Amino acid sequence: MNFSTFKSANKLVTGQTALQYLVQALVDAKATKLLIVSDAGVVNSGTLQYVLDLCTVGYSIFADVKPEPEFSQVQDCIDVYHQNNCDAVLAVGGGSALDIAKCVAALADQPGSINDFIGTDKIKSRNIPLIVIPTTSGTGSEVTNIAILSDTENQMKQGIVSDCLLPDVAIVSPLMSVSCPASVTAASGIDALVHALEAYISLNHSDITDALAIQTIQLIVEYLPQAYALPTNLIAREKMATASLMGGLAFGNAGVGAVHALAYPLGAKYKLPHGVSNALMLPHVLKWNVLGCAERLSHIAQLLKLGTSQNHQENAESLVEFLHKFSGQLNIPLGLRHVGITENDIPDLAAEAIKVERLLKNNPRKLSLMDIEAIYREAL
Ligand SMILES: NC(=O)c1ccc[n+]([C@@H]2O[C@H](COP(=O)([O-])OP(=O)(O)OC[C@H]3O[C@@H](n4cnc5c(N)ncnc54)[C@H](O)[C@@H]3O)[C@@H](O)[C@H]2O)c1
Ligand SMILES: [Fe+2]
Repeated sequence: MNFSTFKSANKLVTGQTALQYLVQALVDAKATKLLIVSDAGVVNSGTLQYVLDLCTVGYSIFADVKPEPEFSQVQDCIDVYHQNNCDAVLAVGGGSALDIAKCVAALADQPGSINDFIGTDKIKSRNIPLIVIPTTSGTGSEVTNIAILSDTENQMKQGIVSDCLLPDVAIVSPLMSVSCPASVTAASGIDALVHALEAYISLNHSDITDALAIQTIQLIVEYLPQAYALPTNLIAREKMATASLMGGLAFGNAGVGAVHALAYPLGAKYKLPHGVSNALMLPHVLKWNVLGCAERLSHIAQLLKLGTSQNHQENAESLVEFLHKFSGQLNIPLGLRHVGITENDIPDLAAEAIKVERLLKNNPRKLSLMDIEAIYREAL
């Protein structure tokens, strides 16, 4: 392919007073009755109220999105949309609420069930306006054309990929993440870091995604520890919110790779938060990837002033070492055994991970089933 396209939400609104833009966004959407899609954590923390205070039109609230949500939640939410005669969708939450809301806006007025749309480009149009306000700094879902939901039957996370899932407006305000529990700040922040790292080494990267990925990595290494240590640090929250968005733009266009592919079965089978699954796999997959992209990993190590040698492989290894310690400082578990996974579980995990061809094809080193089993073993 000798051209590439670049995808984003139609309008990005950032900065400390970004939330005020909601009033204009509702006018532009010609919304008369909103369905607000959120979850219990966001409601109980009082953070949803910031948004409700700015709502100039009527609304109903679906506040029942579960973390790492199942496909069936989309239909539950569509039912509430119709019962209340809504005509626009506003998501206020982490990646879980955003992903459900994206599917609802795209599918509420279409025939068929959610299962008909799993895969790539199965959704062909969206007529319902979609505004999203993330409350975590991690997934970048506010700017991606992807929704990742849990398939409980097959114990796997599956992607719905369609440009119809790109929101009309993404409002990214640092105020929204201040109430995040420390563990959510840490896990979602690592997810954003993995998005940028995997986008940078993706076989599908471009100069545009490289620029976004590099800035994302630098912001997260500097500001995630600050946001974790002091949740009310608005500068750190704003930098992380922007980094998450930029990481989303990077991976939404370049793709992610084997870290995510090997993390998905952990999330689906063991109900681990997505960021924790990624953190558990990150150093081990990157170590394996050194042979496929030593120069690119070395470049990141040098940017972070970790690599002092002229040897790309040594620099890349110092980056892997750094990332392991970085997750540890955020109190994220550092081995699969700490989350109850044993040697016996590995064949099943590997059998699921190798099916994630959509992501493995971007990885700079090809992985066989045996390679994947070996990586899980190293991650024990
Ligand atoms: N669509 C994409 O591009 C994309 C990318 C990466 C991950 N994902 C998906 O996103 C989901 C994970 O999203 P996430 O990491 O943002 O977490 P989440 O949305 O699952 O939220 C995690 C927990 O944090 C709480 N929470 C969130 N914001 C809060 C706030 N401001 N105050 C208090 N509590 C708050 C929630 O109530 C929940 O209990 C996974 O399903 C993952 O697969 C999607
Ligand atoms: Fe992710």
